[in-house]
Amino acid sequence: MTISALFLCWASLAGQVNNNTMDNKLKSAANSLVVKSEILMPNDTNPFGNLMGGRLMYWMDIAAAISAQRHSNCLTVTASVDNISFNHPIETGSVITLTARVTRAFNTSMEVYIEVTAENIPSGTKFKSNSAFFTFVAVDQSGRPLPVPALVPETDFEKELFAGALRRRQLRLILAGRLQPHDANELKAIFDQKL
Ligand SMILES: CC(C)(COP(=O)(O)OP(=O)(O)OC[C@H]1O[C@@H](n2cnc3c(N)ncnc32)[C@H](O)[C@@H]1OP(=O)(O)O)[C@@H](O)C(=O)NCCC(=O)NCCS
Repeated sequence: MTISALFLCWASLAGQVNNNTMDNKLKSAANSLVVKSEILMPNDTNPFGNLMGGRLMYWMDIAAAISAQRHSNCLTVTASVDNISFNHPIETGSVITLTARVTRAFNTSMEVYIEVTAENIPSGTKFKSNSAFFTFVAVDQSGRPLPVPALVPETDFEKELFAGALRRRQLRLILAGRLQPHDANELKAIFDQKL
């Protein structure tokens, strides 16, 4: 952790950074970008010799956590992971690349989008294998949530992710039993438009 990160977390803990101060500290999505590659070794595979799902989820969690830490300048914990599908087996020797970025910051939580590609370099093939949304919460050393800076999307892709983040947040909070469906205004608006 850097000196400034330590200060931000400490100051938040000491009540010296209020929400207005945090609002003034806007950060870009690019600031939280993490790109991490791994070569798929036999130790990372299932009995079929393909990538083991749990190993990929471990790598995804780490890349997404680093992204959330970059945005918040704080320690973070994983609060939830949205759906991860495994549509294609990935064979030993493939290069797995994980790209993570924060899509939107709320009060103490951040949504991180992570995309995974698998590449067979000798044969020149590459495909998107997985994607997922993680939610991280910035915490102090005692695990208490801390406010995080707001995120300003810049590119069209970042703006699209930013716009959908509130809807996804409401859905996952309903599934976690933390929000009543009748209070999910952003979600309700979608259904109202369709009727
Ligand atoms: C995540 C955690 C810090 C939340 O603590 P809490 O006491 O419930 O705190 P709050 O109710 O203030 O919620 C804090 C934030 O977490 C979010 N949150 C909590 N549970 C969530 C869930 N299941 N999905 C998405 N967000 C969630 C809340 O929406 C809130 O976000 P906001 O401040 O941006 O509005 C706490 O549940 C925890 O420590 N969990 C264990 C984390 C862990 O061990 N992860 C694996 C290893 S890193």
